[in-house]
Amino acid sequence: MTSSPTVPAFTLARPKDAPLAPSPLYTELRAKQPISRVSLWEGQLSPWLVTRWEDARSVLGSPAFSTNPAHPGAPTFRKDTPQGRRGFFAGHDDPVHAMMRRTLTREFMVKRINELRPAITRLTDELLTDLTKLSGPADFVEHFALPLPSLVICELLGVPYEDHAFFQEHSKALVDFNATAQKAAQAVASLSEYLLRLVETKRNQPGNDVITRLAAQADEGAITDQDAADLGAFLLFAGHETTANMIALSTITLLAHPDRIPHILGGEEQVAGAVEELLRYLSIVHGGLRRTAVEDVTIDGVTIRAGEGVIIPVHVANRDPELFTAPDDLDLDRANARRHLAFGYGIHQCLGQPVARAELQIVLPEIFRRLPELKIAVPMDEIAFKQDTVVYGVVELPVTW
Ligand code: HEM
Repeated sequence: MTSSPTVPAFTLARPKDAPLAPSPLYTELRAKQPISRVSLWEGQLSPWLVTRWEDARSVLGSPAFSTNPAHPGAPTFRKDTPQGRRGFFAGHDDPVHAMMRRTLTREFMVKRINELRPAITRLTDELLTDLTKLSGPADFVEHFALPLPSLVICELLGVPYEDHAFFQEHSKALVDFNATAQKAAQAVASLSEYLLRLVETKRNQPGNDVITRLAAQADEGAITDQDAADLGAFLLFAGHETTANMIALSTITLLAHPDRIPHILGGEEQVAGAVEELLRYLSIVHGGLRRTAVEDVTIDGVTIRAGEGVIIPVHVANRDPELFTAPDDLDLDRANARRHLAFGYGIHQCLGQPVARAELQIVLPEIFRRLPELKIAVPMDEIAFKQDTVVYGVVELPVTW
C-alpha cells in the first residue's frame, strides 16, 4: 500500500528543545486523530499509528494482531525482515511464542530475581568505586550504565563477563535503526553461535544459571540445543541495551530535576514508585511496538483490516492525559504510574521486567548516595541522543562528581 502525501512519515525524532518528550506531531495526533495513518519506508507502506493509552492496550491485548515480521503488511523497522528462529519468540505468535516463553517463566519469577539483588548491589558498588577512581570527567554510559546491566545479565545466564564487549557490539547492531538487515542478521548469528558453544560447556560443567537449566530442558527433549542458544542470545539482546539506556536517561532526568533527588533517597517504597514514573515518563522503547492485523478489527470506531500494520508508540500513549494527569510532569508520587505501557501489555509484555525493576530500584538511589555532587559535564544541548534507534538513550554522558 502506498501513502498519500498528507500522511506524515513515521519518525523517531524527539524535539531538540525537549529531548525527553514525544514529538509534538504525535501529541497532536493523539488529541485530534488518535488512530491515523503514517508512512514508512519512504511511503511504500502506511500503517496505523495508535496513540491513545486505551486503544494501545486494546491492540496489544488482542489476539487479532500478530508480531510476525514476515506478514506482507508488517510495519517492521527494516523492509523484508524475515521471521527469526523460534527462540527469538517476540516475533512469533502463540502457540510457538507461548511454548518458548514458558521455558523461561520460572527464571523471571520475582522470588528468583530477588535472589539476584545482592549481586546487583555488589556490582553497582564495584562499578561506582571504579568510576570514582577515574579523574573526571568520564563517560557515565561506558563506565556505569552499560556495564551494569551487562554484568547482571551475564550473571543471570552464566555467561563469562570477559566476553561482554562481544555482546555489546552485537546487541547494538540489533537496535540500530540504520544497521542493514545483513548486519542485524550477522549479529543474531554470531550471538547464537557463541551461545550454542556455551550450552555444550554448561552440559559438562553445570552452574546455577539460566543456560545450565536450558541445557537440561534440551536434554529432556522439551527444546533443541539451538532453541536453548537462541533463547540465551535473545535475553542478552533484550536485557542490556534497554536497561542501560533507562539508567542513563533516568540519571539525566533526575539531574534536571534536582529537587526530586531526596525522593529517590527516601526508602524502598518511594523508590519503587519513582522507578515506575521514570519508566512512564521516559518510555524508552520509542520505536513503537509493531503489529499486523490477522483479521478485521474495529478499535475506537476505526476499522483496521486484516493484513494492515499497526505501530504503537508507547512513549505517546504513556503521556495520554485521559489516564495520566499533567502527563508531561515528572511526578514521582504519581498514584497510577504503574499503569504505564513501557513494558508493553498482553502476551508479549516484557518478561525481564522484574530484573529491570530490581536494577533500577537498586542503582538509582546508590548513584545519588555515592555521588552527591554528580553533574553533567557538558551543556544539555550538547548531549547526543540516540534519535534513530528503536530504544531511546544517549550515545555518551560525560559527568563529573
Ligand atoms: C527498562 C528496561 C526494559 C524495557 C523498557 C523493556 C521493554 C520491553 C517491551 C516494551 C517489550 C514488549 C515488546 C512488544 O510487545 O512488541 C519487551 C519484551 C521483552 N523483554 Fe523487555 N524491557 C526491558 C528490560 C528487559 C530485560 C532486563 C530483559 C531480560 C533479562 C527483557 C526481556 C524481554 C523479553 C524476553 C521480551 C519478549 C516477551 C515476549 O515476546 O513474550 N527486557 N520489553
